[in-house]
Amino acid sequence: MRWAKDFTLTFKNLLKMSRSRSVSPSPRNVKRQKVDHLTKEDFKNGIFLAPMVRSGALPTRLFSLKHGATLVWGPEMVDKAMLHAKREVDPVTGVISYNGVSRAIFTTHPIEKPHLIFQLGSADPELAVQAAKVVQQDIAGIDLNCGCPKPFSTHAGMGAALLTNPDLLCSILVALRAAMPPEITVTAKIRLLPSQEDTLKLVERIVNTGISALTVHCRTRNMREKDRATIERLREIVDFVEKMGKGIAVIENGDCQGWEDAKRVRRITGASSVMIARGAESNPTCFSETPLVDVEQTLMPAYFRLSQYFGHVWSLTKFCVAQFKGQRVNVTKAESTALRAKLAQAKGFEDMKDIAGEWTGEEELRLIAEAIQKNPPRERRMLPSTFLTDEAEVPTTTATTTPPNTQNPEPPTSKAPLLPNDFDRPGLPPSEAPTPTPGGGVTMTATSA
Ligand SMILES: Cc1cc2nc3c(=O)[nH]c(=O)nc-3n(C[C@H](O)[C@H](O)[C@H](O)COP(=O)(O)O)c2cc1C
Repeated sequence: MRWAKDFTLTFKNLLKMSRSRSVSPSPRNVKRQKVDHLTKEDFKNGIFLAPMVRSGALPTRLFSLKHGATLVWGPEMVDKAMLHAKREVDPVTGVISYNGVSRAIFTTHPIEKPHLIFQLGSADPELAVQAAKVVQQDIAGIDLNCGCPKPFSTHAGMGAALLTNPDLLCSILVALRAAMPPEITVTAKIRLLPSQEDTLKLVERIVNTGISALTVHCRTRNMREKDRATIERLREIVDFVEKMGKGIAVIENGDCQGWEDAKRVRRITGASSVMIARGAESNPTCFSETPLVDVEQTLMPAYFRLSQYFGHVWSLTKFCVAQFKGQRVNVTKAESTALRAKLAQAKGFEDMKDIAGEWTGEEELRLIAEAIQKNPPRERRMLPSTFLTDEAEVPTTTATTTPPNTQNPEPPTSKAPLLPNDFDRPGLPPSEAPTPTPGGGVTMTATSA
């Protein structure tokens, strides 16, 4: 196949490169090293994958990166869960697993390292630092979750509980900044407080801890995901942070659907960057100017292939794939129903073999690696700054097709029927679901079967 002939950088070479970089960089790699080290600038003008327990699994993060996400956040991991995790590298796939007593609690891959922000749940500066040290070799940045409203988190003083305990919140950020090497960024993700004045006071304290960027989920602790995000409150916060003069990006989070919608969000909020959760859960290619349509046909087979190659837990794969939906162009209702029924009954990858098609997961990984290599973060700025102004032309329609000769289309699979667009989200955890600890994300029981 032509793509295979064209592909010159094999995965083994990629692995070798990443190893040689971490040990003693050759002069050839010096330029790339600069790219790999995130700075405050990398949080500007970006379009990011939000942290999502379960839904933010490794394959989702990699497909998000392939299709335009400039940085990806991992699912929240509670500090204590990481402390005794054993790091293991699969010599064939390169997948790095942090294993708990009986299962992997966090998995990553060297090709996402320059773009990966690891999110911590913590209510203790020392534990946060210890946990960060466990994973620091495999990540680009650490983010503190200050927004999870679930009792699991807040009872332990973590997540949204930190919003009303700014001393503790800031002490964790200060400790992380002091303990991490300069090449690891430290960031925070908060929610709005009910009063704007209190929010600004909190933001001022957080920004003064030395963080590299601040994400604001534009809902308060008591708001649920069905409530509209009050993104109009963000502009004042953005202006406020800008006036502080520390060059820190404020990242908008809440109700942004994708690349096209990011224009609207940025114009209303003035935010430098946007972070997308549920939009990406439905379609991990939403970061692209030309997101895939018919994702069930165009993305799902590739997702199966990569997940199987990675040895990704079937139940979690099934859960993630079951969330896929989006614009359908060539899908009939009958095909949708048939595929949904098949997925619901499937007990493992073997049962979806005909959907996955003949390509291999190794080939998928190579395509993803190639796309990431071609698009280093500094050159992958999401939106021109004109999108921040009212004069910017805002198209009323969303792109529905991928132009020829772009990286977007996944290889087609044979005879793949399609999932419905409108099927419910079986077992989907509520927004800001509690972190499943001990043993974070990767082996939770499927709820969709
Ligand atoms: C399935 C799911 C899991 C989530 N897990 C986390 C998490 O681990 N950490 C976190 O800070 N927020 C988490 N969130 C919240 C999202 O990051 C985001 O703040 C929220 O969904 C609003 O963004 P959206 O409107 O784009 O969905 C989760 C949301 C969903 C839907």
